[in-house]
Amino acid sequence: MSNPSLLILPGDGIGPEVMDQVTRIIDWFGEKRGLKFDVETDLVGGAAYDKHGVPLADETMARALEVDAVLLGAVGGPKYDDLDFSVKPERGLLRLRKEMDLYSNLRPAQCFDALADFSSLKKDIVAGLDIMIVRELTSGVYFGEPRGIQDDNEGGRVGVNTQRYTTNEIRRVARSAFELAKRRNNKVCSMEKANVMESGILWREEVIWVHENEYPEVELSHMYADNGAMQLVRAPKQFDVIVTDNLFGDILSDCAAMLTGSLGMLPSASLGAPAANGRPKALYEPVHGSAPDITGQGKANPSACILSFAMALRYSFDQGEEATRLENAVQSVLASGVRTADLMQAGDKDPVSTTEMGDAVLAALDASL
Ligand code: IPM
Ligand code: MG
Repeated sequence: MSNPSLLILPGDGIGPEVMDQVTRIIDWFGEKRGLKFDVETDLVGGAAYDKHGVPLADETMARALEVDAVLLGAVGGPKYDDLDFSVKPERGLLRLRKEMDLYSNLRPAQCFDALADFSSLKKDIVAGLDIMIVRELTSGVYFGEPRGIQDDNEGGRVGVNTQRYTTNEIRRVARSAFELAKRRNNKVCSMEKANVMESGILWREEVIWVHENEYPEVELSHMYADNGAMQLVRAPKQFDVIVTDNLFGDILSDCAAMLTGSLGMLPSASLGAPAANGRPKALYEPVHGSAPDITGQGKANPSACILSFAMALRYSFDQGEEATRLENAVQSVLASGVRTADLMQAGDKDPVSTTEMGDAVLAALDASL
């Protein structure tokens, strides 16, 4: 049997720097744990635009649909700010999400003990925090038609986007949230704006339908998304799994991410329907962006990208124990005081470089054997 296949798309900015460390970790699992992957690397975002004139080449898209999982670094940067909307780096990522039909975006917000002081909130509000945001990723206002900018025939213009959700789109992402909750603390909170949007009314009704018919044993609650944002900073530990639409999920997940202290720590998984081999279509990426301000300086924290590979081990390759081994390695490195520049406080030792952080995680992996 051939090895499972990975397509690595480092992308732009710090993407390639952090992905280099992930490549070393993939090699470690091959050598030390007998978990070998067939790895190929390609371009996405601005890097793809520079070579092909589009932010994702058709051949790359085709390979993404064939491999067992895609690992992505980051896309975008100031160099591409003036490009036409249709070829902006972000369009490459959105095309991957749409054509791979990655409807369920898992964004865990976990506060590592060693980092509780980094949160902008009081330590006791975030210490031990462990929530999972499930964001719908292939529909809603990100993709709804009609969309565009037109003349309004009165001498001005009108910008249009459409929030649109179908029964099936809501039910499938709700199922993925309930499934996750069953393996966690058995609670789902669904967020929408049913007080002002019909799509929100439908969202709530369909989540209730899935709950009553398929997951009555899971505790379900509902919140308007604005209240949800407020509750996330007031008392985030009340949540276990949050399920919400594409746009609210974009906003609420940034909010939840910052509770944990650093965007440099947070991984994500974007999953589609399970294929015949049981593996879902899947893309794994850090929540942080391309960070042009620190690109090329060897400063970036590779943890989020490394933890995204841990999610791949768990959700694509059924290697939960090896995923935990990798997560524990990152935790133990942080606990030992080894930190990249984003995680520095007064009195700390000097920050380590991206590569040194990779070295430390590899040493912790060796120590775990
Ligand atoms: C995210 C990002 C993307 C989004 C951008 C880069 C298109 O903000 O993954 O949260 O809006 O979905
Ligand atoms: Mg975002």
